[in-house]
Amino acid sequence: MNASTTKRVINEIAKEIAQLRQQITEHDDRYYVWNEPIISDAQYDLLMQRLISLEQQYPQLVTATSPTQRVGAAPRAGFNTLTHKIPMLSLDNVYDDKTLSEFYHRAHERLQHDSSQNSDWVCEPKLDGIAVSLTYEQGIFKQGTTRGDGFNGEDITENLKTLRSIPLRLNDNNIPTIIIPTIIEIRGEVLIGKSDFEQLNQQSSLEKPFANPRNAAAGSLRQLDSRVTARRPLGFYAYQLGYVEGMDLPNTHWERLQLIRHWGLRVNHEVKLCTDLVAIRSYFANMATIRDRLDYEIDGVVCKINSIEAQQQLGFVARAPRWAVAYKFPAYQGISVLEAVEFQVGRTGIITPVARLSPIEIGGVVIRNATLHNQAEIERLDCRIHDRVLLHRAGDVIPKVMKTLVELRPEHALLIEFPETCPVCTSSLERSDDHAINRCPNGLQCPAQLKAAIKHFASRQAMDIEGLGEKLIEQLVDHGHLSSFADLYTLSIELLSTLERMGKKSADNLMVALEKSKTTTLPRLLYALGIRDVGLSTATQLATHFNSIENLCSATETDLLAVNDVGLVVAHHIQTFFKQPQNIELITRLHQVGVIWPAIPKKITSESTQHAFFGKTFVITGSLANLSRDEAKAKLEAIGAKITSTISKKTDFLLAGENAGSKLEKAVALGIPTLRIEDVIPLL
Ligand code: IVH
Repeated sequence: MNASTTKRVINEIAKEIAQLRQQITEHDDRYYVWNEPIISDAQYDLLMQRLISLEQQYPQLVTATSPTQRVGAAPRAGFNTLTHKIPMLSLDNVYDDKTLSEFYHRAHERLQHDSSQNSDWVCEPKLDGIAVSLTYEQGIFKQGTTRGDGFNGEDITENLKTLRSIPLRLNDNNIPTIIIPTIIEIRGEVLIGKSDFEQLNQQSSLEKPFANPRNAAAGSLRQLDSRVTARRPLGFYAYQLGYVEGMDLPNTHWERLQLIRHWGLRVNHEVKLCTDLVAIRSYFANMATIRDRLDYEIDGVVCKINSIEAQQQLGFVARAPRWAVAYKFPAYQGISVLEAVEFQVGRTGIITPVARLSPIEIGGVVIRNATLHNQAEIERLDCRIHDRVLLHRAGDVIPKVMKTLVELRPEHALLIEFPETCPVCTSSLERSDDHAINRCPNGLQCPAQLKAAIKHFASRQAMDIEGLGEKLIEQLVDHGHLSSFADLYTLSIELLSTLERMGKKSADNLMVALEKSKTTTLPRLLYALGIRDVGLSTATQLATHFNSIENLCSATETDLLAVNDVGLVVAHHIQTFFKQPQNIELITRLHQVGVIWPAIPKKITSESTQHAFFGKTFVITGSLANLSRDEAKAKLEAIGAKITSTISKKTDFLLAGENAGSKLEKAVALGIPTLRIEDVIPLL
């Protein structure tokens, strides 16, 4: 390269560096000062990594004010600024096994050069909250600060004093070996639990809901009025010590964590001592599996070398220690452009707006659609076509639009007009006052509702018609072959063979499946009919209570209310259903085409009311040997027990199989008896 080319290249690099710095500084401000990030952590890290690598290649371009030289943003006005005695630095992130392994080996190689150090690691959850530092003098809580820019933080002592998990005085437990140092800094994370967060967001005193628990924790900690903070469900977990005077601290991180516990602070229960890389990997894999079951958000794990001497030898590079690393989970959030909104009609006629997005990869999955729930949610989000939106993907559920990045709204953004009429059958929609519900009142006359109803009718727990998929139902309805469930049983091989993607073999199979489904049970049929709010459990209760569809049909409101699951609303839906002549006609036609659902003999009902489990509420968890959960559920329901999915004080028994997790813990905490399936089966 000649001199002028080199100059041009350097100029270009300098330009890119300047742009990156400006972007990062802006994002720092949004994240640390305003609590309104517009990019995901992973996207932020990409910018930072690019800047770090450019600065490493071109050290002549490094400046004192580059974001690589510090770790966050300046504290905002309103709180006093305090300087940390020891800087609160950040951690480097790794996102994959290869980079983790490089980090691990690098650390061990460095240590071997110097001496042979203890090579244990401590693995901890990476808590997704707000880092704070607490100072205790003579054991008394004196001062609490945010991390701020790592060197200077905000004095939030008064706010932190309101947290019950932060002791105002360190505990020596009257144990002579537990020393209370003259000065000690304890660092950790303030957070809000997931369930507390949901509850908090429903409080009407909030100006607007928080986007996630981390923002809720940050917003609550930054209150100038600490009485507001006191009403927020904030918790604190300690994970590190800072400055100390008047005590020789233990020389491993693990022992220090135990000491912190002895002093009366919370240290997370998932911390583990890992002897090697294999153990670290399996810790990470396990945390990724149990992540959703934890009641607080974590975004990865932190691995710290256990020996403090080794930590000191390894030291720091720029903004992070060489002795610790954050191994982050794949990002669950991302930003994309809202390209269009489609309005889908559900089985009960409810209209759901669905966002069509520019495709974006979040945590290894390409996302094209996200739910917008309902009209009220669109209004709350204030999103428009062409807006940038923040998306969140949790597990396998449909991604959600969390937030509109209003500040990035382009000029050509278009308001979203919620339709006045059904997008499929054009009936005028019924709208609830709060805009949370828009419903097409046209019932099964609306092709969209008919298709969804048939899909439900054919589903596994209903009539279980194998091979009757969505595409097929669509064709059958669109060609006018189906206008009622009963029409399914008049389909012929000849007709089926004329449909797209329907070979002779599939047509044959479908005919067999239809024939097989004709012999069914009363609970299945009742569920299949799709009466509003009648799920499989209610259908089973109704069947065992009334024994036949005829009895149910003529039941009064009082009769219906005598059934376990049935309240006024459900009773009303059931009565409305059986009052409509077309529904009675449907049942008659189903009979005529050969569908049979034997009445349930009275005997079983009276016997079952004497059963010890009659009317009891069960929750099933874990995997059950020799029996699927559906089967266990059916058996219990047959004797009049009720199955619900969440443990509460109303739960009578937990039926626990192998690997029962958080539900078991909760049941134990609430004193709910746990039964094993082997013990229960003989009783059914
Ligand atoms: S140790 C020098 N341990 O992650 C080591 N940090 O990216 C300092 N964090 O500011 C941090 N859980 O807010 C540590 N178990 C844990 C953590 C943790 C969450 C956060 C903390 C810190 C950031 C670093």
